[in-house]
Amino acid sequence: MTTNDPATPFDVTRTLPADATGAALRADVLHGLTRTPRTLPPKWFYDARGSELFDEITTLPEYYPTRAEREILLARAAEIAAACGARTLVELGSGSSDKTRHLLDALPDLAAYVPVDVSESALRGAATALLAERPGLGIHALVADFTRALVLPATPGPRLVAFLGGTIGNLLPEERTAFLAAVRGMLAPGDFFLLGTDLVKDEGVLVAAYDDAAGVTAAFNKNVLTVMNRELDADFDPDAFEHVAVWDARAEWIEMRLRSTRTQAVKIPAVDLALEFAAGEEVRTEVSAKFRRDGVTEELRSAGLELTHWWTDEAGRFALSLAAVAG
Ligand code: SAH
Ligand code: AVI
Repeated sequence: MTTNDPATPFDVTRTLPADATGAALRADVLHGLTRTPRTLPPKWFYDARGSELFDEITTLPEYYPTRAEREILLARAAEIAAACGARTLVELGSGSSDKTRHLLDALPDLAAYVPVDVSESALRGAATALLAERPGLGIHALVADFTRALVLPATPGPRLVAFLGGTIGNLLPEERTAFLAAVRGMLAPGDFFLLGTDLVKDEGVLVAAYDDAAGVTAAFNKNVLTVMNRELDADFDPDAFEHVAVWDARAEWIEMRLRSTRTQAVKIPAVDLALEFAAGEEVRTEVSAKFRRDGVTEELRSAGLELTHWWTDEAGRFALSLAAVAG
């Protein structure tokens, strides 16, 4: 369904059936909370409040990825534009589209911007702000899950598909493989893929980035409990869970978890669940994988994409990769 009313000077397309979000949340909760260890997919953080909390995270002193990626974009946007000559920029998990401005400014022939996000509030906020600054930009916002098949609007090529922020690290390895194959499917010869990846570094720096002193990441993590309370009529007490961020050195990822501070029972009526949590029992709510150049090159190659450029910030904390369709 596309809404294109006069008060909204950009397209917002929801390709999902009416209750798709609710049904997907119910399925993920049923699957993830009834197994050991308990897990939830991170996409459920991002209701309107979760999107706001993420934006606040990006300004925290401990959370370096956003600043590091912005530094690379500022330094390299012209090179990216020259390499790809894109007329359509598709951005997966676009959120506030804030850093994207550096790309939009550098692409002289851009005809269309297609931000894709599960958070409709983030998409609407971003599109409204962008249009106020760039009235001529054709914006086709897509409310969609980027791990599902996407139907992109018919806009002029060449296409640059961007996936910024290190969000690829929030996918599990098998999900990453499927995701990269789907990205390859969105590209024709002459199109490019721009990927942001956070890099492996000192454990102390990483843990601090996911367990900030002001407690914003803890609030972001606990927001998923509020989402389940609202959407599924559950009775989670966010005060009875604590935020945990640990570095898994073998998997090379940060894990965010919610740890039950006491023995407690939780009801989730919409999926007919009554859960018992032991004191100390944890729910994994997110992995945030960190990468190395060889691994990124190989994962892209396996998906039929060839790395053409690799840029890092001065401090070597974060990387942007540009990849072409392999010949
Ligand atoms: N790209 C932005 C935002 C990163 S936050 C930046 O670099 O700052 C991750 C974004 O991805 C959020 O806006 C969230 O709503 C979106 N997101 C998370 N999982 C998603 C999914 N499965 N499909 C679509 N969007 C998703
Ligand atoms: C969106 N994503 C890349 C963030 C990350 O760093 O993994 C989400 C986040 N989780 C905690 N802080 C930020």
